Amino acid sequence: MTYTLLNLHQLPSQLLPALADLHLATMPTLLANLGQPFVLRYYQLAQKDPSVIAFCALTQSVKSALTDYSSLITDDCLLAYALGSPNPPALNAQLRQPLPWFAGQMLRLAFTHPAVLWQLVQSVFSASEENTLLPREVELTYIGVAPSARGQGLGKTLLTAFVDAARSAGYKSVVLSVETDNPAAIALYTKFGFTIIKTFSEGRYHRHRMEYQIRKQENK
Ligand SMILES: CC(C)(COP(=O)(O)OP(=O)(O)OC[C@H]1O[C@@H](n2cnc3c(N)ncnc32)[C@H](O)[C@@H]1OP(=O)(O)O)[C@@H](O)C(=O)NCCC(=O)NCCS
Repeated sequence: MTYTLLNLHQLPSQLLPALADLHLATMPTLLANLGQPFVLRYYQLAQKDPSVIAFCALTQSVKSALTDYSSLITDDCLLAYALGSPNPPALNAQLRQPLPWFAGQMLRLAFTHPAVLWQLVQSVFSASEENTLLPREVELTYIGVAPSARGQGLGKTLLTAFVDAARSAGYKSVVLSVETDNPAAIALYTKFGFTIIKTFSEGRYHRHRMEYQIRKQENK
């Protein structure tokens, strides 16, 4: 499979809706349940946040068309993504601004998806301290590969890019949470060298916290 890896900070903003769609199709967590406007805003904020480490894989044809946005077919150009930061709650908190936009979205959810609004309230109260990051730790918050592109090494490639960038930024470890019933993700992380450091419950989710210790000179 031919693809190009791009840093999220260099991704043309015209492609962010396609990235949000890929997130929606691959990551059924609370952010996705909140709906496309939230996911898109999340990636817009992430793109502007210099502490965020994030990469996308694009089909090669999109790379060559990057200078001519009008010719882009955005539906299937994004293949995969990985995103994380040293302070995920701060990134999430930015979603509450601007306040009129946030209030409008909450109103929309109250009428269309009240259960998701309840899930959001619960997440505030059930947020686990097991997710707290220590200095020089960075969290890999999201990683996803389009279903049609799985099993061809893209997940490993994005994970490698993320860890390499974390190493260059001076972090000593990458941590993440993964649901205990996600064997594909657990296999990806374990084969890469992550280890389970604890298992905990967060609301209705049962999760492993996993860690990868970065060594300065290693070559993956
Ligand atoms: C998890 C995910 C990112 C893996 O991506 P991928 O591109 O298919 O993974 P890769 O092809 O790079 O595989 C990497 C390793 O994991 C293993 N692996 C991947 N999927 C697997 C599966 N379903 N069962 C067992 N092992 C699996 C591969 O065998 C490979 O091992 P190898 O290096 O020894 O060959 C992908 O399945 C996905 O997007 N899942 C939905 C989103 C998700 O769950 N994200 C994680 C949230 S914490």
